[in-house]
Amino acid sequence: MGERIPIASDHAGFELKEKVKARLAARGFDVLDLGTHSAASTDYPDYAHALAAEIESGRAARGVLLCGTGLGMSYAANRHAHVRAAVAWAPEIAALARQHNNANVLALPARFVDEGKADAIVDAFLNTAFEGGRHSARVEKIELPESK
Ligand code: RB5
Repeated sequence: MGERIPIASDHAGFELKEKVKARLAARGFDVLDLGTHSAASTDYPDYAHALAAEIESGRAARGVLLCGTGLGMSYAANRHAHVRAAVAWAPEIAALARQHNNANVLALPARFVDEGKADAIVDAFLNTAFEGGRHSARVEKIELPESK
């Protein structure tokens, strides 16, 4: 079984989540679907917090969130220590979020990217390494003192 990777969305991201999930599974990832499980209206923070808890606890190293803009999911996920959720609407943003910010959660704006674009963004997020070096101290400064 491949790397365990949690994924979650609200209703706005549900349809695209199903497609991203299938693609990740086909690529050999052990996908943990934390919901939502239908297009019925729901509250994005519930899913963001559930996914962020997987990262914060160390049960998973990285994950994918989807909502309409990616923003609400990122706000909630980024309240968790050691979670760095990046909204990315282009593969270049996702790659830079990995290279410079060591992002460990991708927040996809489902209402603004089609399936092909989402695939390219997810690939960039999963296949790009953190550059370290001068970026390491900056990333460490993101954490509040009580979280260190
Ligand atoms: C749902 O309508 C929408 O507000 C939500 O998906 C997200 O975009 C919030 O940030």
